[in-house]
Order: sequence, then structure tokens, then C-alpha cells
Amino acid sequence: MVGELKMQNIVKTFGPVTALRDVTFTAGPGTVHALCGENGAGKSTLMKVLAGVFPPDSGEIFLDGHKRIFTHPRQALEAGISMLYQELDLAEHLTVYENIFLGREMRKKVPFVIDRRAMINQTLQNCKRYGFDLDPEATIRSLTPGQCQIVELLKALMKNARVIVMDEPTSSLSEGEAVQLFKIVHQLRKLRLTIIYISHRMEEVKILADQISVLRDGAVVAAGSASQMDIPTVVRHMAGRELKDYYPVRTSNPGPTLFEANHLSSEEGIRDISFSIRCGEIVGMAGLVGAGRSETARAIFGIRPLTGGSIRLNGRPVKIRRPSKAIKKGIAYLTEDRKRSGLCTILPCSWNMTLPNYPRIGMRLLLNLHKEQKLCRSYGEKVAVKWASPQAPVCSLSGGNQQKLLIGRWLMARSEFLIFDEPTRGIDVGAKKEVYHLLTELAAEGKGVLMISSELPELFGICDRILVMRRGRLVGDLNTRDTSPEKVMHLAAVEE
Ligand SMILES: Nc1ncnc2c1ncn2[C@@H]1O[C@H](COP(=O)(O)OP(=O)(O)OP(=O)(O)O)[C@@H](O)[C@H]1O
Ligand SMILES: [Mg+2]
Repeated sequence: MVGELKMQNIVKTFGPVTALRDVTFTAGPGTVHALCGENGAGKSTLMKVLAGVFPPDSGEIFLDGHKRIFTHPRQALEAGISMLYQELDLAEHLTVYENIFLGREMRKKVPFVIDRRAMINQTLQNCKRYGFDLDPEATIRSLTPGQCQIVELLKALMKNARVIVMDEPTSSLSEGEAVQLFKIVHQLRKLRLTIIYISHRMEEVKILADQISVLRDGAVVAAGSASQMDIPTVVRHMAGRELKDYYPVRTSNPGPTLFEANHLSSEEGIRDISFSIRCGEIVGMAGLVGAGRSETARAIFGIRPLTGGSIRLNGRPVKIRRPSKAIKKGIAYLTEDRKRSGLCTILPCSWNMTLPNYPRIGMRLLLNLHKEQKLCRSYGEKVAVKWASPQAPVCSLSGGNQQKLLIGRWLMARSEFLIFDEPTRGIDVGAKKEVYHLLTELAAEGKGVLMISSELPELFGICDRILVMRRGRLVGDLNTRDTSPEKVMHLAAVEE
């Protein structure tokens, strides 16, 4: 069939790990094909095989019925296969049109002279054609994550992409931007493109997908039309079991005040933030993208200096000027962007886990390697991270497993006050449930948890209280029991 993509009997191993075992996958033009599966199921690997990043050990790829062999991403691109990666691939200091034409600039008839006007015009025409609202002359640095994604998409379309792979495209978008992306996806479908859409958010799969394939442990366990597969069925196939008790039942019994922020202001634009957290409490922090939630966390953890205000821990004033001091005082911070500011991806899992924990494993003269391994294995087990061994490099772990590893790190640090910034971003439904249970256990042990999240259902699922931020200020401190998602949204969005 014209425009049909077929991947047949694909096998891909990484040393001892079999990432894909005999996967057959077809997608037709004018459809959105959702690829679902738990963390480490093989979704990204399958798409990287398609995009020519990894050659398969065996198996074949057919496009329009013709067999294609891609040994380099460029060949896949030329065949019309574009992959939008989660980490942006744009040159930040260049403009939109410069990025789009990078390496294939249009030239005037005079030798060596670049035709800027022509490139700007062509970018504009294409924006119009696809209904994108972009300024070709804006620099990438000045754009929001959603706009950057549109630039990537435009770049792919202008290279005549016919198959577009989106790997968790909404994970760094605000709600409004996500809605816009959905509209774009609908439009690309109308233009007869093939969209392969990977997401852990089942609501998105429900809204967008025409076809669904479910991967589990590197094999396709279900595939078919979305109208014949409801979400609970998809989730059951993903997990291979029923998922019950999604949110843990909590008996909250808060103790004395653990952490107090008094009138905090920072260079990054947060102003006059005051709140407290008691031992055994899980407190959520809601707000739109840019409301100052991560900025608050960074100020508390000593990454950005405070310009005003003070912090108390266990009733005593503390001054935190660097993260190392925060860690020593028993504060943990799981950042929202694990690749950029959480992990050293080329280093082994064990090192990443023990990095802030050296004092506990005898750093004075030599590292106690035996103790390090033992601790890593035990905390790895506690958070159920899937790795070949603690020595495997972090980049060999799937996204969700990287997140679990980081949670393990802070459990190992035995921190008293834990700040989790979007802890369930990019992790599958089963792993989310595990994270909720882990947070609840921490609280039951008397620790204090501040959970920043853009997903209201999870805040309402496990938090005792919800703080609401807007434009750098704290605009609400609500008991979860006495409030509603509508109230929180209203506070987060509306200017009085
Ligand atoms: N470069 C690599 N080296 C070694 N193993 C790898 C590599 N890339 C992936 N793997 C392994 O292949 C398996 C599938 O990983 P993949 O990244 O495809 O999962 P995924 O379904 O995309 O998961 P997630 O939802 O967490 O992103 C995992 O066991 C992973 O550890
Ligand atoms: Mg992935």
C-alpha cells in the first residue's frame, strides 16, 4: 500500500538485554498510531530502529512495500521518517528560520551570499500552510518549549517528512500548549501523514489514537483499532495485570513542624513565599508552567541565592547557600529535568545513586565499594528499578527507570525533607503507582514531602494540602479535603 510503513520481525539486543524480540508493527498514512507500554518496554528503541539510530540485529523495514535499510539517521530522514526527540535538538542562539535551513541554506545567484529573505518567506509560507503561529526571525532562546516543538515539527515537514514519530511530546508542555499540539496532530493526519505517538498519558492516547499497539518486555502484546480497545484494556495489556489501588489509602497523622519558609524571595523572581510542612505530611504544589514552583525549590535547595526571607528546619533557622549544605541538613531535591540537572548519563547507575551519599559509604580515604554495591542493590530493589546491573551506564536505562534511580538516590540519603519536582513525569502508570506508594511510605516514616506537579489528579490523590503558585507568588494554601480541582485551577490561572 502506498505510504504504508511496516516493521517486520525486528530484533534488537544491547549486550545481554533483549530490548525488542520479534516485533512486527504497521502504520498507515492518515492515522495516528499510539505506541504504549511500561517503562523499558522498548518503545523508544523500536522508533530509534525506524529512524536509523540503531541498526536492528535482524528484521526488515518496508516503506510503500519497498524494503529499506537505514544505517544512518540521515537515510531515514531522506526516506521521509522524522523523529521528534524529547530533548530538543535546536541551536538556541539561532533564529527559527536559521534552524530550519541549517546546513542547507538557500543562496543567491551571486556566489557565497545567503538569501535570508527567501528562507524567511519560505518559513512563513509553510507556517501558513500548516497553521502554525511562529515568527521566523525569533531566536530559539526566546521561545517556550511548546513553540520549540513546533519549530522541530516545521523543520521535519519542510524536509518532506511522511512519518513523524513523537516520543512523549507533551511531557514538557503546558496544558494550553498540549491542546495546541493535539490540534496540529489532527491536522497532520488530515494531510495524510503517519503519526506515531508515544505517551504515558492515557487521556492523550484516548483523544488522539486511531490505532494502538502495546509493547511489553520487547514484544507486541496487543494491537488494533482504538475504537475496539478501551483504556483499561490498554493498561491491562501494558502491565500484564490489573492495576488496583492506584492511589494509596493514607491515614495522615502529621507531627511537629519540620520545615518553614518565611517570606522567601529569590533572584529567579519568586516573591514573599511563606509556608510550612509538618513531619509526615505530603504537600502538593500546583501552578501553571512558569508560576515559580521549581524556582521555589531551587531557592530552598541553595541553587539560587535567596534575596530575602529565611528558612527553618525543626524549629531552628538554617542558612543554605549551596546544595551540598542542603543535603547535609537533610533536604533532598529531585529535579524536574533529570537529564540536564539530575544525572550524569554516561556514568554507571551506582555512581549516580551514591553521588550525594558519599559520607555514608566512607569517603574519608577510600570509597567502600562493597558497601556501595550493597546499598545500590538494596535501594534499587526498594524502588524496583530495572537495570542490567548497578554498573550499567545510566543512559542504558529507560526514562522511567532513570527516574526511579533518582528517587532511590534520595532514599539512600535518608533525607528528612524531600522536594519532588514532577516525580512522575515520563513514567508509566504502574511505576506512577509505585512512586505514590513510596511517597506515602516516606510520610508514614515521619518525613516531610513537597511534591510539585502539573497533574492535578495526582495531587488530589495523595496530598494532605495543596499550595498554589501564580506568577512567583503563593496564592493558595488549601486543605485537599476542603477544596476541588476547579478551585485550584482557578487560583492558578486567574488574575484578581
Ligand atoms: N543504548 C542502550 N544500551 C543498553 N540498553 C539499552 C539502550 N537503550 C535502551 N536499552 C534497554 O532497552 C530496553 C527498552 O528501552 P526503551 O528506552 O526502548 O524503553 P521505553 O519503552 O522507551 O521506556 P520509557 O517509557 O521509560 O521511555 C530497556 O531495558 C533499556 O534498558
Ligand atoms: Mg522511551
